Amino acid sequence: MESFQYESVIIDVSCLVEYNRFQSLAEDVVYKLPYQTIYICDENKKAKLQYELRFIFNKFIAIQDSGLLDPTVSFASDKSVSIAKKHKLITELEDDELSLFFEKFRNKLYGHPKFKDDFEELVKSFRVFNKIGEHKILSLFLMGDSGVGKTEVARAIFNCLGGSKRLAKINFGNYSNEFSLSSLIGSARGYIGSDDGEIFMKVRDTDIGVLLIDEFEKSNATLFNYFLDVLESGKMTSSLGDEIDLNGFIVVFTSNISKEDFPKRISPELRSRFDYKCMFTLLRSQDKRKYLEFRTKSIIKKISSDQNEDLEVHLLEYFNKCIDVGKYQNMRDLNKEIKKVFVKFLETSIDENSALNI
Ligand SMILES: Nc1ncnc2c1ncn2[C@@H]1O[C@H](COP(=O)(O)OP(=O)(O)OP(=O)(O)O)[C@@H](O)[C@H]1O
Ligand SMILES: [Mg+2]
Repeated sequence: MESFQYESVIIDVSCLVEYNRFQSLAEDVVYKLPYQTIYICDENKKAKLQYELRFIFNKFIAIQDSGLLDPTVSFASDKSVSIAKKHKLITELEDDELSLFFEKFRNKLYGHPKFKDDFEELVKSFRVFNKIGEHKILSLFLMGDSGVGKTEVARAIFNCLGGSKRLAKINFGNYSNEFSLSSLIGSARGYIGSDDGEIFMKVRDTDIGVLLIDEFEKSNATLFNYFLDVLESGKMTSSLGDEIDLNGFIVVFTSNISKEDFPKRISPELRSRFDYKCMFTLLRSQDKRKYLEFRTKSIIKKISSDQNEDLEVHLLEYFNKCIDVGKYQNMRDLNKEIKKVFVKFLETSIDENSALNI
């Protein structure tokens, strides 16, 4: 152990194979341990562990090839080192998985057809150039009106990549004072409350390589500069010196900034660092009607255990009769109206209510 180049927690996971169904146990434990923990296992347990823990660990490599040993010390070993995977990345999908991802993404986000086409192209190019080490992070800067789906883009990417934990989301609106950087990345060791900042906790706690930065323009130059560096290097370094590798991540920045204010508030250096900038426009009526349909389905699913197609058709007809989607530009307002009208529907349709046990 002295031959390891730096201090780190090393855990031997070989004994896991003795347990039945150790996959979920391992997932629970690994996600709670520090990011830099090193896992090792006996060579003869490697095949089983590699298969069972394929969602947790990216790859298993021989200790000698891991770069963890002092090269001057010879070390005869029968152990492998597994590198914690932590995040599922868009760069790692197989081609058929990627097609499925795009299909789901297009269905989940209503409207914005040009953005969807551009996004598909961007991701394809990102996967190629990320592999050859030329493009570390895919960054999207989305502007536009409220409630048209900017934040939804990050949620949709997260869900379509199969996220089961939480989307890593930071609201820069909370980081507008002079201490913003230290609260975001943590204060130096030794200071009261020294800890990794919010962004490290959020990235560690998620299982998908997507980071959402909401209300980006609300912050200040110090944070902008920090992000300039993150986008360039593909790494985040906390004030405690811990590093998180964001290679392969998609970072979505959203902002309510107007087209005119964009060049005034965001420096040219930063502007040029974003891979893609886009102004989200209002949704068309046909997209809002699709949203209405989706909400109808999800409401019915939540209130009745078995599929109830008749009721679904009936409710959608009622919504279409009572709600003029053209009146709503923000989907949150449309959603509020949907809820109001649904209560009215419940009051008027006594038969359905008894069928639903409401
Ligand atoms: N294009 C869309 N596709 C699917 N859902 C949408 C779309 N636009 C809005 N929604 C729904 O409306 C709600 C608000 O959308 P979202 O949070 O993405 O707004 P936003 O554009 O980020 O607005 P803000 O600038 O106020 O943060 C979400 O619950 C989302 O599900
Ligand atoms: Mg938003």
